[in-house]
Amino acid sequence: RGLILGGAVAAGSTLAATSGYLAAPRPDDQPTSPAPSTAAPATEPFHGPHQAGIATSPQTHAALLGLDLRPGTDREALGRLMRILTDDARRLTEGQAGLADAQPELADIPARLTVTFGFGPGLFTAAGLKHQRPAIDLPKFSIDKLQDRWSDGDLLVQICADDPVTLAHALRLITKDARAFATVRWTQRGFRRPPTSQPAGHTQRNLMGQLDGTVQPTDLGKAVWISDGPAWLHGGTLMVLRRIHMDLEKWDRADEAAKEFSIGRRLATGAPLTGHNEHDEPDLHAKDHVGFPVIDDAAHIRLAHTADPAQRMLRRSYNYDETVSADGVTDTGLLFISYQADITRQFIPVQQRLAATDLLNAWTTPIGSAVFALPPGCTTGGWIGETLLA
Ligand code: HEM
Repeated sequence: RGLILGGAVAAGSTLAATSGYLAAPRPDDQPTSPAPSTAAPATEPFHGPHQAGIATSPQTHAALLGLDLRPGTDREALGRLMRILTDDARRLTEGQAGLADAQPELADIPARLTVTFGFGPGLFTAAGLKHQRPAIDLPKFSIDKLQDRWSDGDLLVQICADDPVTLAHALRLITKDARAFATVRWTQRGFRRPPTSQPAGHTQRNLMGQLDGTVQPTDLGKAVWISDGPAWLHGGTLMVLRRIHMDLEKWDRADEAAKEFSIGRRLATGAPLTGHNEHDEPDLHAKDHVGFPVIDDAAHIRLAHTADPAQRMLRRSYNYDETVSADGVTDTGLLFISYQADITRQFIPVQQRLAATDLLNAWTTPIGSAVFALPPGCTTGGWIGETLLA
């Protein structure tokens, strides 16, 4: 095998030497490779009071994994699983290979990798810890057309990175290490614009073209991080994942005024219909010349608005775009992801108002739904989930 490979290399070298393909001096009009960067690799700290990947400035790529525990995966087995997965996450996010890493060379570029874990309802039952389970049930919403293949799950792994190769490597190592304990229920992949296209700090556009993510909580300590209820969850949060399909063919048929009316903001700038700039405060009382509200009663931003800024949910959504049908229609939408300390007070009332009358419902359909409790972060000697499972 080595000989054959050696022969192939020799043949290649001969070709290079005789053709001058590699050896000739580079003419001026040839593209040049940039010099290798000496900058420190971009890493996101793994350790801390909160898990990374929540308040972290969103990376370009995301893969979310919903796992179902195999029968017999009890509290003790879950402890083993979470120690292994924490070890993988800790090493990979720091640019080191995992312990059982078959492609250690892929670990060199961490690319702001974060790996975030969440516990679904079934995990508490499997661990015999139902009494420690926070309120993570959603009611049925009238707009939902949920599919099992995008919904629920006992264990969430959210992997985000600025580099899709880094992401694929982390996803593979983690799924391999989880195999003995759990099966994969769903994988959901999403993306945002990379920092090379748009510097961090700009609000991103979703695939309907809107600036999405303008209004966020002012105080994560109140809005996102849990500080009451079960002690094991202090410093953690609750995550809602909704897979929302966008009917872009129908959206294409709406004119710009209708599109802006449905949200209550301008497409070009993201400014509220009552203002000029993206971050102008919307005037929900303003009326037009015939006395109708400028921001319609059923506009998305009116219905989604929460008066107390500290009680807003943190939205960290990703676009998805899967296979194109034979007729040339894309399968496009949003992995809507929100983090909040309390879904009963923060997510559910907003989703209920949106389900009842949001104009956007004409073009969007929730097809997947899952809620997870995300434990706090850990220290260098600890592991994610130890506050519940140890
Ligand atoms: C605001 C789009 C689903 C909650 C917005 C804005 C856009 C938008 C363009 C205005 C800019 C901003 O503040 O980000 C969408 C699209 C959705 C969707 C395209 C579905 C595909 C949802 C869902 C929820 C939600 C399911 C929660 C249940 C919010 C909140 C705001 C918001 C809380 C800020 C409202 C405020 O001004 O206070 N959304 N959204 N959105 N959306 Fe959505």
